[in-house]
Amino acid sequence: MNKTPNILVTGAAGFIGSHTMVELQQAGYQVIGIDNFENSSSRVADQITAITGIATHIEKIDIRDKKSLNEFVNTHKDIAAVIHFAAYKAVGESVQFPMKYYENNIGGTVNLLEAMAANQINNIVFSSSCTVYGEANPPVDETAPVQQATSPYGNTKQICEELLKDQSQATGLNVISLRYFNPVGAHDSALIGELPIGVPNNLVPFITQTAIGKRKQLTVFGTDYPTADGTCIRDYIHVVDLAKAHLKALEYQLAGKNKQSFDVFNLGTGKGSSVLEVVAAFEKVSQQKLNMVFGPRRTGDVVQVYAACNKANTALGWKTERTLENCMQTAWAWEQALAAKENK
Ligand code: NAD
Ligand code: WQD
Repeated sequence: MNKTPNILVTGAAGFIGSHTMVELQQAGYQVIGIDNFENSSSRVADQITAITGIATHIEKIDIRDKKSLNEFVNTHKDIAAVIHFAAYKAVGESVQFPMKYYENNIGGTVNLLEAMAANQINNIVFSSSCTVYGEANPPVDETAPVQQATSPYGNTKQICEELLKDQSQATGLNVISLRYFNPVGAHDSALIGELPIGVPNNLVPFITQTAIGKRKQLTVFGTDYPTADGTCIRDYIHVVDLAKAHLKALEYQLAGKNKQSFDVFNLGTGKGSSVLEVVAAFEKVSQQKLNMVFGPRRTGDVVQVYAACNKANTALGWKTERTLENCMQTAWAWEQALAAKENK
């Protein structure tokens, strides 16, 4: 297969989608991006253009709008594969508004699969999450059982994997489900990064927003966990490493290398870091002390989770290249770039 097939990216303006758009363009793919910009900015397309030098357009489409989605896919008949990021992702909000999550994450995916089937598009790479493993014994590999979800958000990822599996059995659709661990960091250009709306739930944007003065202090959730320093352990993966894995998964799929029509891969670094190690890495690269207090455990947090990534390393020929310090350095540069723009 030549190297310029059209790839449809849903959620293209989002955190992981935008970094993947860059990697796809730089690898020579024709990329068609769609997003409803509910959790992102339409200006992201210009930022991608500034990085790659390739004119980028992201079409405003809501994947819940079946008619618009079908019309759009129908007018781009030469799509070889879809990378599907579009979803809501806030765990806490999903507990409060479960139907909103089921409608968007599951309803949107169903619409997308129908549009793909109607247009004979036979390849999809899906954004799943390590949350499907719940509390598992790390390093967690893909054979670890999927556990009862602890939030509607987590449940949408499990259900989507199930419906993708069913569709692959019914139609021969090739599915790669990528289970991300904790994506962090930003592009080296500081032109794209994570744009949390309101108060961030996630650790790294909370750290950078505290350091820039948007938040008073970081609260470390729990210091009495059975870990070396008492704080939780996660596998923080740089978003550029993650974006590159999508390229590898796509190439694997388009080359017909997949051994089964539905397959899953863990994407992490294979290394766990505690909350305090993340803070220390931030303090080192930013050369400042973070305003931090110790608080009680956050409900629902697992003690420790990190990935075994041998499957992605071997089958996809992918491995991470960035360090935790690089994650923190690029996240910090991005936060500073955002602040500079706001102060203009
Ligand atoms: P994000 O919110 O930055 O990106 C998602 C994008 O999808 C946003 O630009 C949003 O506007 C768009 N979107 C949402 N609903 C849509 C709809 N109905 N129609 C069109 N566009 C829509 O999130 P992200 O961090 O880039 O996550 C991307 C995917 O990866 C999501 O599926 C998420 O669940 C999954 N994931 C994220 C993480 C993480 O920690 N960031 C971890 C595991 C899995
Ligand atoms: C990391 C660590 C917190 C904030 C979530 C989702 C998961 C996936 C990734 C989408 C934990 C601690 C955090 C703070 C803190 N997303 N923390 N103070 O919970 O591992 O995973 O994002 O699929 O599904 O659940 O990530 O960044 O929220 O937390 O001490 O203000 O930082 O307790 O130990 P988490 P996180």
